[in-house]
Amino acid sequence: MPRAHIALDRKAVVGPVRRRTFGSFVEHLGRCVYTGIYEPDHPTANEDGFRMDVVELVRELGSTTVRYPGGNFVSGFRWEDSVGPREQRPVRRDLSWHSLESNQVGLDEFAKWLKLTGSELMLAVNVATRGILPALDLLEYANHPSGTALSDLRIANGTPEPHDVRMWCLGNEMDGPWQTGFMTADDYGKIAARTAAAMKAADQDLELVVCGSSGSGMPTFGDWERTVLEHSYDYVDYVSCHAYYQVHDGDLGSFLASSVDMEFFIDTVLATADHVGHKRQSKKRMNISFDEWNVWYLEEHKASDEVNDEWRYAPRQLEDVYTVADAVVVGNLLMTLLKRSDRVTSASLAQLVNVIAPIMTEPGGPAWRQSTFHPFSITSRLASGEVLRPVIEAPTYLTARHGEASLVDAVATVDDDRAAVFLVNRDLSEPARVTVDVRDLPVSRVVEALTLADADPYAQNTLADPLRVVPAANGSAVLADGVLTVELPPVSWTAIALG
Ligand code: AHR
Repeated sequence: MPRAHIALDRKAVVGPVRRRTFGSFVEHLGRCVYTGIYEPDHPTANEDGFRMDVVELVRELGSTTVRYPGGNFVSGFRWEDSVGPREQRPVRRDLSWHSLESNQVGLDEFAKWLKLTGSELMLAVNVATRGILPALDLLEYANHPSGTALSDLRIANGTPEPHDVRMWCLGNEMDGPWQTGFMTADDYGKIAARTAAAMKAADQDLELVVCGSSGSGMPTFGDWERTVLEHSYDYVDYVSCHAYYQVHDGDLGSFLASSVDMEFFIDTVLATADHVGHKRQSKKRMNISFDEWNVWYLEEHKASDEVNDEWRYAPRQLEDVYTVADAVVVGNLLMTLLKRSDRVTSASLAQLVNVIAPIMTEPGGPAWRQSTFHPFSITSRLASGEVLRPVIEAPTYLTARHGEASLVDAVATVDDDRAAVFLVNRDLSEPARVTVDVRDLPVSRVVEALTLADADPYAQNTLADPLRVVPAANGSAVLADGVLTVELPPVSWTAIALG
């Protein structure tokens, strides 16, 4: 059995555990909104038409900031369509997902839903096909208290209190040729800078996110960030990263090491941003908003999605059914975000319901947890205080896509009187025996040890069998003489709470 040893030093602090690391994303795409969070005829719907079974699961998931309303959707969106009397809201074509948008849920309804879930709103503005003034109008509508045309309109529409949105995305994936109104880095950098400057003239405390690359494999990756930031550095606070992973050609070994790419992505973007900052002699340090990340079987969708020549309302799109291996990767990606919590200060699991999501629903039927739900909710619940940089001694293996990767990965968090250790075993067939030196931490016992694993790494939760994949207590976890010992099954994710 492979062995790994992890040393934890109380002073080796990466940064605080940031609640925004546990953000997610709701886009007007497929059934994320309609029959996802909103279904007025559903037996659990509240007076506003929101499914309370879904609200309960979102609370349990522990997601914090929610990015809205897109995604690619935002690049064809007129925000004015989605406020005011519902019967007067227009139906529009959404070109990015080739579907119909009824606008029955808009900013004010979504903000109400967020309150039910206890989440923070993060809004995206359409810089692709609109411009500065509509962005300023949305800002006035959303955040200005009262006494102006658009704040009074919000009040007249039934929302007396401003939404007070702090985080704003300046468009979405503007480097992608699939984006309605995509731009060159130079064009986008200029419009992002001007939009950001205007928005900050209204409120200098806004936190603005400029679009970075849609993935580390984009042909413009690196150059895009440099050019965009050369224009916008002084006006924005975050550069975004988006990354999706999947199994390619059955190569599970590479897939399980996806976080190696995420680390490379983060390091490269930070190096580029710091280079631009240094050239500008800026005192500001740009942080990352990793505002789309997940496992997504992108290729497979082209064949299975309900997309054709018809224009439909809320078609079934991007409804990935996740496996145990997918959940292990999601858990590992979240560990990676924590490991960089010095500079990755906000992140959004893409997405929240039905669309590449941890929560699934059936119209008129139940809601259930996908396999990926578990590592996210457990990490959100257990991680607190500060993130520690672990020293990992473990065997490595060679992957086709990511080179040499450690068989075991780990991260830990520590608070006043407790700690949490998160572990992954990437070995396809062997369990791993792991020892963790916790002598330096204020803990003396194992409070809880949960492992997500299965004899079949492709096991899934489905409508017919929604509890097939659930975390189980790991009875092998023992803390004695300051050393935690635990056995990790092959292809597994584990969380251990210590007190
Ligand atoms: O999350 C699904 C889509 O992925 C988003 O709309 C887009 O930003 C990305 O390409």
